Amino acid sequence: MTDSTEFGKGAVRLDQGHVVGDGGIPERFQNPGLPPHVHRLADVDPRAAKRAERQVATLFLLSILATLAFVVAYFAFPVSKLVPVPFIGQASPSHLLLGLTLAASLFFIGAGAVHWAKTLMPDTEVVEQRHPLRSSAEEREAFTETLSAGGDAAQINRRPLIKATLGGALGLFAIPLVLPVIGGLGPLPGNALSTTFWDENHWPKGRRPRLMRDPEMLPIKADEVTIGSVFHVLPEGIDKAEHPLDEKGKAAVLLMRLNPEDLKVKKARDWGYQGIVAYSKICTHVGCPVGLYEQQTHHLLCPCHQSTFDVTQDCKVIFGPAHRPLPQLKINVDDEGYLVAESGFAEAVGPSFWERG
Ligand code: FES
Repeated sequence: MTDSTEFGKGAVRLDQGHVVGDGGIPERFQNPGLPPHVHRLADVDPRAAKRAERQVATLFLLSILATLAFVVAYFAFPVSKLVPVPFIGQASPSHLLLGLTLAASLFFIGAGAVHWAKTLMPDTEVVEQRHPLRSSAEEREAFTETLSAGGDAAQINRRPLIKATLGGALGLFAIPLVLPVIGGLGPLPGNALSTTFWDENHWPKGRRPRLMRDPEMLPIKADEVTIGSVFHVLPEGIDKAEHPLDEKGKAAVLLMRLNPEDLKVKKARDWGYQGIVAYSKICTHVGCPVGLYEQQTHHLLCPCHQSTFDVTQDCKVIFGPAHRPLPQLKINVDDEGYLVAESGFAEAVGPSFWERG
């Protein structure tokens, strides 16, 4: 049966209870009400509820195991050791395991909570009417009662296995958050920055270490370094170091060629080779890599806090929070014309700190 009436702008029809627009498209529907409630298996079968409880507890237990594996991986694998990994290339097993165990720890807590909610938590449909934002005192009191009733209905007190395993999973999960912060503070630097792979005890047998282009690790001839060019340089043989990442972090050097007359400090000229000079790349403020070279002004800039070093003045600080010049590496050429280090750095590289000595 079709009935026509006016509804807002334009003519509309009432078609079997639906308000229908001019184009025949329904605009409003009668409230169909809620479909019949279907009880979950765990609601009607105590054995299914017990099974669900064990499944939830197993997921929380897996989270606990993953967190413990995180702790073991943190202490058992050195960060600087690299191994070949399919699709990635080289990676530190420590980083891989920390990432995987942390992900598993989080995943199993989430999966346990979802499974718990879907199988054992209350399955009642709730309709909440709109009301003023501030509820009355009675309503707040009623809410508190509902909340505690909800807690009872969630059976947290009646299911000690879930309570204990969830407590363990959430409690232990704080460890991965805190451990890297505490572990990352130490050990104290000691003499670590006073020695680098440029030092004599690392030199190839019978000769001085060549300056190698990073990352290709190819030696550099003096005539390849044209005026205005800049090279990122590492010492020969550093790939074979026991902890190559640590050593590279300390030994990184920037190599530039200036017109020898532009070098205003005699020591800087003497420690270079025909206007080619090499300076530590580690900022003396807090140790960021100094990566920007302004060819026209001969300034080196640290991107972290804008410390600026003047290469013409032996890398003296001319701007920013750093307090010391970048240490210079004394260089020369070998018989074949390749650039080599004459000695290690004369002072510790990197930031100042209380143990510097
Ligand atoms: S680390 Fe270079 S300016 Fe702060």
